[in-house]
Amino acid sequence: MTQPRHFLAISDYSADELTALLDRAAKLKSGEDQAKLTGQSLAMIFKKSSTRTRVSFEVGMTQLGGHAIFLSDRDSQIGRGETIYDTAKVLSGYVDGIMIRTFGHDEVEELAEHASVPVINALTDLLHPCQVMADLQTVIEEFGPELAARKVAWIGDGNNMANSWINAAWRLGFELRLACPEGYDPDPDILARAGKSVTLTRDPMEAAEGADVVTTDVWASMGQEEEQAEREQAFKGFQVDDALMKRADASAIFLHCLPAHRGEEVMASVIDGPQSRIFPEAENRLHAQKAILLELMG
Ligand code: CP
Ligand code: NVA
Repeated sequence: MTQPRHFLAISDYSADELTALLDRAAKLKSGEDQAKLTGQSLAMIFKKSSTRTRVSFEVGMTQLGGHAIFLSDRDSQIGRGETIYDTAKVLSGYVDGIMIRTFGHDEVEELAEHASVPVINALTDLLHPCQVMADLQTVIEEFGPELAARKVAWIGDGNNMANSWINAAWRLGFELRLACPEGYDPDPDILARAGKSVTLTRDPMEAAEGADVVTTDVWASMGQEEEQAEREQAFKGFQVDDALMKRADASAIFLHCLPAHRGEEVMASVIDGPQSRIFPEAENRLHAQKAILLELMG
């Protein structure tokens, strides 16, 4: 079996390939690119909740002339313990691509190993690459295509979003400064590989200094709900507020993958303020993912 190309991590793609995907996402958004996936089907496996990912992939497939099938672990055999191996083999006989959102990143890798159709990572505990592609599209819309010239500040948990931002900085060469509380660092291997353009500090103000983009995420991700109280203590001082935004460049934008907790990781005055680009960012999930679907399935 020749292995199809998958989209599991931003780090699996070169700078040129990522740039081409982002360029295509812009052309799909403007209507300049009218490519289709007529009659093709995408299976979407969800072991975690979703609003944006589900709707943007489903609408994206419809707009491309194809079809998406929602498979929740609650009402498919996946939730009753059918193996990833059997699921990969069976779905490969029906559909042209598989999207999966789950806990362990190893499950996505196992699915990709055994599927004969492309697999797309729609969030694991380790990575959220589709979201960061949409975020990069939003940054380009604001500042132009020179991503390597940007300074990005990540404030908060060293989670799946942080790890995908590190992969993006590694591949595309922009400066990324992460401010994470002790004990909540990003994945050490991903961080170590990224090199000098990515730095980790305990001081949010230091990370935000002169940044073009300030971004954060919830303090407790899906699957960490029982750690909420403990994390609220650990993340005190890591809130994105007006004082922090003032340390960034005057033209800085604020991004958040959503869903957000106003008053927790970000103040309402920031997320609902003039520097926030959260809704174009959310919309760009649709365009960025259509570019990925076309690249893999077209
Ligand atoms: N940002 C994001 O992935 O949102 P959903 O969990 O709603 O899909
Ligand atoms: N880090 C968050 C992102 C949600 C889109 C989570 O994994 O729950």
